[in-house]
Amino acid sequence: MGYVGAVSGACFARMGHEVIGIDVNRGKVDTINTGGSPVVEEGLSALMQEAHTAGKISATVDPIEAVLRSDISLVSVGTPTATDGTQALGALDAVVTSIGQALRRKSEPHTVVVRSTVMPRTTEDRIRPSLEQAAGRRLGDRLELSFNPEFLREGAAIKDFFHPPFIVVGGVGAEGCSQVNALYNGIDAPIFSTTASIAESLKYACNAFHAVKITFANEMGAVFKAIGLDSREAMRLFCEDRDLNISPAYLRPGFAFGGSCLPKELRAIVGMAKSARVDLPMLSNVLQSNDQHIARAFDMIQRRGRRKVALFGLAFKPGTDDLRESPLVTLAERLIGKGFELAIFDRSVDLARLTGTNLEYIEREIPHLDRLVTNSAEETLAGARTIVIGHAPRDVVDSIVGAAAGRCVIDLQGVSALKELPDVDYEGICW
Ligand SMILES: NC(=O)c1ccc[n+]([C@@H]2O[C@H](COP(=O)([O-])OP(=O)(O)OC[C@H]3O[C@@H](n4cnc5c(N)ncnc54)[C@H](O)[C@@H]3O)[C@@H](O)[C@H]2O)c1
Repeated sequence: MGYVGAVSGACFARMGHEVIGIDVNRGKVDTINTGGSPVVEEGLSALMQEAHTAGKISATVDPIEAVLRSDISLVSVGTPTATDGTQALGALDAVVTSIGQALRRKSEPHTVVVRSTVMPRTTEDRIRPSLEQAAGRRLGDRLELSFNPEFLREGAAIKDFFHPPFIVVGGVGAEGCSQVNALYNGIDAPIFSTTASIAESLKYACNAFHAVKITFANEMGAVFKAIGLDSREAMRLFCEDRDLNISPAYLRPGFAFGGSCLPKELRAIVGMAKSARVDLPMLSNVLQSNDQHIARAFDMIQRRGRRKVALFGLAFKPGTDDLRESPLVTLAERLIGKGFELAIFDRSVDLARLTGTNLEYIEREIPHLDRLVTNSAEETLAGARTIVIGHAPRDVVDSIVGAAAGRCVIDLQGVSALKELPDVDYEGICW
């Protein structure tokens, strides 16, 4: 009956469910049983009072009694950071054990839903075994377990509960999440079913992204202010771009960025901030993070031994011959530097036609490139033991799929057909 439990309890009661709030804190339990709210949250006192008057909510310190009288247990105890930096799961373990013990006295089906934020795999690897052991029954035997992340924001929690961007339910085991989905009948939001581990990871991705967004806006704000600009106007216009800025663009995990603009402009912002004596810890580390990603790809290749490598894609993205600051050029350069034999294919890159800064870049970075670039996928694949897919069009992917058997494939693009092949040593960059 903390922020999440109390808000959800009152909101589920408003939706017509019968809610029993459980907490170890007797004061909170007494407050709920007299129609009050155990936490301060906009609109919650009125909602609690309404649920209490309608007889839709009550509270107890006895989890056994509550489990025996209900169909679903929603667990939203705290999961704070422990002194050693890990997640403290003591309260969660205690609750799961008591639910399991109660289930030994209950023959009807029961569903357990974890709503506390927990590290990916906790529900599957930690909660499942302790619940099954305490309950003396396995998932599927009148017992369902899922993870259903909560996205509400304190201060707007009731509004967020009734108007969420989406509802995500991650099931454990073969059983579906139908019981949990039914809880939300009446809420107008898409419901996505996935695995518990993905649902757990999603919660971290959301919170990390929100933190990064705020820090990004504040770092831009600090540097723009330092040069005498009102950053709010720049960021207001920034948010008007719904195609590239406020959109799913650039949010698919894959290989590193490059090209003639992003790295150059990042260096310029960091340089601008330096001259204005403004520290930008996040933005000034972005290029380093990008370089780490190239290093990850290199390590994946190197781990497989020093064998002949076929590299597909060289330009910084498909469909261009712009090689400037291409992460694939950097990767190729590192492989050559470490003595790998390399064959490269990128249909858009015709070395004979490179001119200007693009040509200068290549002459400076990998001057012997022309020796390594081939004219067809087949020629590139000949004799290669490791295939690296930076980017490749569909017909080239088909050639790679046809020739991949018995070889290693390092996939920086995300070719699902390759992941499924049986006789391939496959590794993806972020999957
Ligand atoms: N606060 C938020 O905005 C928010 C949003 C989404 C997710 N979350 C996550 O939800 C979880 C709960 O967050 P919160 O802010 O509601 O925490 P909170 O500290 O406000 O509430 C936790 C409650 O659990 C109770 N509790 C502890 N041990 C118990 C036990 N053994 N049996 C019964 N009750 C017990 C505590 O007395 C307390 O009332 C956390 O994992 C948090 O990360 C929080």
